[in-house]
Amino acid sequence: MPTPVDIAPARGKLGILLVGLGAVSTTTIAGVFAIRKGLAKPIGSLTQMGTVRLGKRTEGRSPKISDVVPLSGLDDIVFGGWDIFEDDCYAAARTAGVIEPSLLDKVRPELEQIRPWPAVFDQRYVKRLEGPNVKKGKNKKDLAEQVVADIRRFKADNQLDRLVMVWCGSTEIYMTEAPAHASIETFEQALESNDPSIPSSMIYAYAAIREGIPYANAAPNLTADIPALVSLAASTKAPLAGKDLKTGQTLIKTIIAPGLKARLLGVKGWYSGNILGNRDGEVLDDPESFKTKEESKKSVLDYIFQPQLYPELYGDLCHVVRINYYPPRGDNKEGWDNIDIVGWLGYPMQLKINFLCRDSILAAPIVLDTALFLDLAKRANMHGIQEWLSFYFKSPMHAPEVYPEHDLFIQLMKLKNTLRYLKGEELITHLGREYYD
Ligand SMILES: NC(=O)c1ccc[n+]([C@@H]2O[C@H](COP(=O)([O-])OP(=O)(O)OC[C@H]3O[C@@H](n4cnc5c(N)ncnc54)[C@H](O)[C@@H]3O)[C@@H](O)[C@H]2O)c1
Repeated sequence: MPTPVDIAPARGKLGILLVGLGAVSTTTIAGVFAIRKGLAKPIGSLTQMGTVRLGKRTEGRSPKISDVVPLSGLDDIVFGGWDIFEDDCYAAARTAGVIEPSLLDKVRPELEQIRPWPAVFDQRYVKRLEGPNVKKGKNKKDLAEQVVADIRRFKADNQLDRLVMVWCGSTEIYMTEAPAHASIETFEQALESNDPSIPSSMIYAYAAIREGIPYANAAPNLTADIPALVSLAASTKAPLAGKDLKTGQTLIKTIIAPGLKARLLGVKGWYSGNILGNRDGEVLDDPESFKTKEESKKSVLDYIFQPQLYPELYGDLCHVVRINYYPPRGDNKEGWDNIDIVGWLGYPMQLKINFLCRDSILAAPIVLDTALFLDLAKRANMHGIQEWLSFYFKSPMHAPEVYPEHDLFIQLMKLKNTLRYLKGEELITHLGREYYD
């Protein structure tokens, strides 16, 4: 048997720091409070409902994940966060309009206690937003120090043992790696000189990682996915995960596409349209923020289909993604996918998917799982990019020398094998010869 990894127990309280108290964050927080009170079920969450098979199929051992690895319990979580609006978490959840008021009212006192701290915000990076609850500082370094002070105060005031940060703020404008991102030295100089290649999200990520706090990015912004912050995470032993939660349409895409590919059915075209009416939709109505999202959404098919290996099947794929801001729908997004497939002898077929989803209802369990698994990674002394959490993201962070894994089923196997590895259990290869020998 392999040796189990030494994992520190999940003793005491875990603080979950959320940047941006919008639809995703408030749905996560209110959901955890409702689940704690037994008012609702944590559907969609592996940490709360998932099991993992251990050993051979004949052994019948499939315990709950939470019984296999030490995870923080929901009662031990304390939430805190920042937003550019002053609304407390109850008011913000009402504005987001995801959870019914009748349920929100049952957790109202707990939600009202969460008031966002002033944010690090610059409209240059999110054009469609403006709010009053914003920090002032000498330069970006000073703003980062203010975020560190918020984190330390939150930890002391609530007597927390450990912390995790998840960026649930708006999607920032499209940015690519710049010279300032190359090393921690260039990055810190850039903070001092207010370099425009450092958006607000990077300031929070820097603050968390410098404190050794696990960090995840729920949005597609570059943020922690730069050499400077990846190397800082290595030195402070902070685990990292991201980017861009894999919810609605992309989740379905990464379920359907591996199936078509497995049977070597060709795909000539994939048209994805969406209507969305929440604040996220409003921010994404700005072409510069949409570009960040579009890049994230489009990359999945290239990696799943591997057109370089199958040029006749996927070489000419036309992949189009559109998001239209349509206020009447609020958070209840509707997506249409038209997939033009090619079969035996080149005969064309079509597949149509109409997904009426609730974006933040799909996102909340992922925020919770990512936070709990990152805290586990920290206690297991696993730092830097946590590729086993690719399962949750549209643009998984990965080592420079490998391509990202987008196939949901391979991602799940990687996640569960990581749990088996941590426990010193045999990894499951699905070879299964032993049952027939
Ligand atoms: N809902 C989903 O299913 C889903 C899926 C994948 C990714 N995402 C991403 O998650 C993020 C949050 O989505 P949402 O639906 O909650 O959006 P939202 O607009 O409801 O919430 C975002 C919040 O972040 C705040 N904010 C923006 N910049 C900030 C800053 N610099 N500091 C502090 N607060 C800031 C905004 O004021 C807003 O309250 C978006 O980037 C979105 O693209 C969401």
